[in-house]
Amino acid sequence: MASFPEKTHKTGDSRNLGTPQHASGKQRAAEPKLPHVVGRVPGPKSQRVFELEQQYIAPGRQRISLLAGLGFDYGEGATLTDLDGNVYLDFVAGIGVASLGHAHPAIVNALARQAGKLMVGTFATTERAEALRLLIEVAPSNLQRAHFYSGGAEAVEAALRLARSVTKKYEVVAFWGGFHGKTGGVMGLIGDESKHGYGPWAGGQYLVPYADCYRCPFKLEHPACGLYCVDFARQQIKNSSSGAIAAILAEPMQGTAGNVIPPDDWLPAIKSLAQEFDAILIADEMITGFGRTGRMWGLEHSGTEVEIMTVGKGMGAGFPVSAVLMSEQISHAEPFSKPSASSSSYGGNPLAAVAVAQTITTIREEKLVENAERIGSICLNRMLQLKEKYEFVGDVRGRGLLLGLDLVRDRTSRRGLSRAVMEIIFKEALRRGLLIMGYFPRIRINPPLVITEAQAERGIEILDEVFAYVRDHVDWRSGN
Ligand SMILES: Cc1ncc(COP(=O)(O)O)c(C=O)c1O
Repeated sequence: MASFPEKTHKTGDSRNLGTPQHASGKQRAAEPKLPHVVGRVPGPKSQRVFELEQQYIAPGRQRISLLAGLGFDYGEGATLTDLDGNVYLDFVAGIGVASLGHAHPAIVNALARQAGKLMVGTFATTERAEALRLLIEVAPSNLQRAHFYSGGAEAVEAALRLARSVTKKYEVVAFWGGFHGKTGGVMGLIGDESKHGYGPWAGGQYLVPYADCYRCPFKLEHPACGLYCVDFARQQIKNSSSGAIAAILAEPMQGTAGNVIPPDDWLPAIKSLAQEFDAILIADEMITGFGRTGRMWGLEHSGTEVEIMTVGKGMGAGFPVSAVLMSEQISHAEPFSKPSASSSSYGGNPLAAVAVAQTITTIREEKLVENAERIGSICLNRMLQLKEKYEFVGDVRGRGLLLGLDLVRDRTSRRGLSRAVMEIIFKEALRRGLLIMGYFPRIRINPPLVITEAQAERGIEILDEVFAYVRDHVDWRSGN
């Protein structure tokens, strides 16, 4: 049996610290790393650990991990280093999780300190009180209470229980392209084919088209469409439901669908729709929260207020923690508010609590929301140039560091590039030191919020090199 390769890095080693100055007061390396590939990808040590895992891991792991075949040793800021010493720029961030990048000393130290003190929750702790205080301080002003959970799906399920408790109704509307997790209560709300084979779903779940304007199912254009998708949703709800809509569940911008940005008038229109049906609009900010879009919340871009919000991912900078935020007014609804009715074993345990408190503190101290906005707009401008340069770049979009591209065989039919071509793109990027969700024709770019301008520029430059390679060497119009 193969053995694990030796670890080449010690956690907490000051040589490995990425961006310049951090909340802990520790000095990081003056120049954050740029990607640097020294050998074959994947190299022999990566291959060994990947094969070792493959002996035991059940099929169904992440596609990006299967395609990369890499084993990682450590991370620093916006880079990841594999077991063979190749350094990659991380445009994935654990799918929007690594808000502070990798091994940020502030979070490393906070978690290490707390692990030696108290790890198990249930009772009140200073740590949880502080995490709650900070969370409510940065939350939209009408959201004054929160419960912690461990994962995104768990939080969304809790949000739906709360909406049902408030409205005394039970049906839920969500959107094509949407994703809210893989547990029983939310799986029927996934807006794509990945749920095929698991039905039947819980009753009373309805899906309506999202404002995914590049792929508008009605072939209309905004703003001339007058938000026809919202009118359609109204009819769909009237004709399909039993008249008991408790909630409309929406991502302010869709992550899984391809970092899709709806027009700013869409979410307010959905809020009015929820009011028409006496339902609660739940904003699922799992991806869009904590500065990712260049504002603290995705909701801010359209000035929409909601009564329930779900958050996670970037909130713990890698520690598994999520939350439901709610207005004071609805927080007392029963049965959700009864003792033990909305708690969970790990939710808000002291480790999770310090992760949340430290992440919020660091996001503020290092002005990472502003960084996301600034670096994101630099990336977006460079991506618009790629659209001018390459015929197969059909659409480019983004808010802050939530950026997306659609690669198409022709700009009229908008049919996406084939899976085979996309895998070439993914692997060519990897060979050049860029780790990107580029294996699907709707490419997603969501790097850590600590990414520097030089790193972001280099990442887009690599994408440019890969696109030039595809234009010159690949029959990109072909394939299935
Ligand atoms: C918007 C949104 N909600 C919920 C989830 C589910 O989160 P988790 O995978 O932690 O259950 C995700 C995960 O990608 C998400 O993007």
